[in-house]
Amino acid sequence: MKYLTPGPVQIPKQVVDAIARQPQFHRTEEFRAVFKRVIEKLSAVYKTIPVIIPGTGTLAVDVMVYNYVNPGEKVVAITNGEFGDRLIESIESRGGVVHKIEWRYGDAPPPDIVEDTVRKVGDVKAIAVVHNETSTGTTNRFIEKYQDVASSYGAVLLVDSVSLYPAEVFKKEIDVIATASQKAFISPPGAAILYIAKEPRAKVSVPPSMNLEKFLQSLKKWETPYTPPINVIYGLDAALDYILGMGVDKYHEMHRERAEYLYNNIKLTPIAKQELRSYTVTAFYTNRAKDIITELKKHGYVIAGGMGKLKDSTIRIGVMGDITIEDLRKVVEIVNRYVD
Ligand SMILES: Cc1ncc(COP(=O)(O)O)c(C=O)c1O
Repeated sequence: MKYLTPGPVQIPKQVVDAIARQPQFHRTEEFRAVFKRVIEKLSAVYKTIPVIIPGTGTLAVDVMVYNYVNPGEKVVAITNGEFGDRLIESIESRGGVVHKIEWRYGDAPPPDIVEDTVRKVGDVKAIAVVHNETSTGTTNRFIEKYQDVASSYGAVLLVDSVSLYPAEVFKKEIDVIATASQKAFISPPGAAILYIAKEPRAKVSVPPSMNLEKFLQSLKKWETPYTPPINVIYGLDAALDYILGMGVDKYHEMHRERAEYLYNNIKLTPIAKQELRSYTVTAFYTNRAKDIITELKKHGYVIAGGMGKLKDSTIRIGVMGDITIEDLRKVVEIVNRYVD
């Protein structure tokens, strides 16, 4: 089976080889050297401080929320799909007071709408948004502009980039980004990764396993406060060699080309408007979702169905990981058999 999924993705052979070993004891010189190397490689991908915490993408988002939002604080949160809704759920569970900008699926609110909302709400402490809405294959390409809004109103920008980083990295410094190992970092699940440019601002206690201050303290010694996801870190070591060997810009181009191939050749309508189409997870409307998924499986390909409201009316095809243009050709051919 080959996984053309939103994640976990098809991981390259060198990553599989790297994880298939006895985990070292983490309080040793040997493991500290591996951890340091991986943190340095993560820093080479993007300029802010990388933090690794055991967990998946949901944990990364919760860590971001719990360390940067205090109960009772006002947060402007944008949602245009399932993961935007989950981000809001996290903020509300922390006791944040959410002012929601609910936007059309496949689209994203322009920065002036966000700025208007922030100004009208007043005393906003955070703006929260999903970078790549995985449920609809939509990339919000206004986020660097939202950062300007956040900075000028004294708010922190919180970005869920679980299904995009590092396939499309920001040029600008973004306050806080939450991501994970199993998607465009082409590794197994198990490492929540945060990129932070701003000090954590929790005034109310955060559970120890999610407390960024503790992770930042340990990072000074190239350690984690508790057991890290050791084998996932071996995987990340190899995956980052691949990504950095190619270069982050070329890595982005590769995803763009793969995704464009699908957008140009699949005879179905993408959910996202053209300029916001995702280059990691493509999503199309179809009334034959089940048939397409079943037929692809017979040919050795796993893709995903829809989520939430779009469950039975869409398919999602991921283009991350160890796949080839030949795989994409076969997938296109099979999907197009189900276009009336
Ligand atoms: C945008 C986004 N946020 C959060 C998550 C949650 O990640 P996980 O399933 O690793 O907990 C996902 C997973 O698909 C995602 O795509």
